[in-house]
Amino acid sequence: LAAALLSLAATAFDLQGHRGARGLAPENTLPAFERALAIGVSTLELDIGVTADGVVVVSHDPALSPAFVRDASGKWLPARGPLLKDLSLRELQQYDVGRIDPANPYARTFATQQPVDGARIPTLAQVFDLVRTRGARHVRFNIETKLSPQQPQDTVSAEAMTDALLQVVRDAGMRERVSIQSFDWRTLQRVQQREPGIPTVYLSIQTANTDNTKDGTWTAGLRLADHGSMPRMVKAAGGKVWAPNQGALTQALVREAQALGLQVIPWTVNNPADMDRIVGWGVDGLITDYPDRLREVLGKR
Ligand code: G3P
Ligand code: CA
Repeated sequence: LAAALLSLAATAFDLQGHRGARGLAPENTLPAFERALAIGVSTLELDIGVTADGVVVVSHDPALSPAFVRDASGKWLPARGPLLKDLSLRELQQYDVGRIDPANPYARTFATQQPVDGARIPTLAQVFDLVRTRGARHVRFNIETKLSPQQPQDTVSAEAMTDALLQVVRDAGMRERVSIQSFDWRTLQRVQQREPGIPTVYLSIQTANTDNTKDGTWTAGLRLADHGSMPRMVKAAGGKVWAPNQGALTQALVREAQALGLQVIPWTVNNPADMDRIVGWGVDGLITDYPDRLREVLGKR
């Protein structure tokens, strides 16, 4: 019975592969999502943007990055490349995002990544199709709207991105399988109005001194000073999940959030000792670049 309960507890824990499995394959690509599925994640974490022709694509940055984008002739981009919102899907998918430029320091951090030459930025619909094709019926999607509140001209508006995302989710029949996350809480408020059944995930960087935008979290008018703590602020905003930066989290905050009925799913935890410590605090899930490591840590508990 104990073993059965343990395995039940293990399945309820939400193992989220960050950008697919960024430590193992090029981030936010179909090969990364395949890798995460093969490891047995319960949720694929991914980021979205919207192209000039209105297609929802999977990318962390609003612009093509010189660190890991090669143009159609195979050359690394010399500097920050075009914005997603200025390229059509066809133009965007000319670029190769399957390898990190070895000259970029980022390459050392992710030396564990196995390159996949020829990988393209996928559409969100392609990711849904992949998961369907693989028969991974219980895998969920934690989708982050990548807005740039300090540089709003870099992306389509929060409203346009949210509405485009919701349309793709509806068209794919995936309403029951997604959560929507953002540092830009305006997105989440809009999701709550338009699709109240979709859980919203409130991302935060700090747990103190957050007054609105100074730390990069765009809190849609909510102020920490008015609520007393980040969990209470997320609850007041109507969130289902609080996804804090792991470095700013304490066990007391986990307990406070859960007592309010929130799930707590920190990001991005890559070191097995940190994973073990934070899992021990009773969090509901973890977001990691190395879902293989997290599976191992969970298996040993
Ligand atoms: O899910 C939260 C995490 O993905 C936020 O950080 O910058 O990796 O999107 P980032
Ligand atoms: Ca993300």
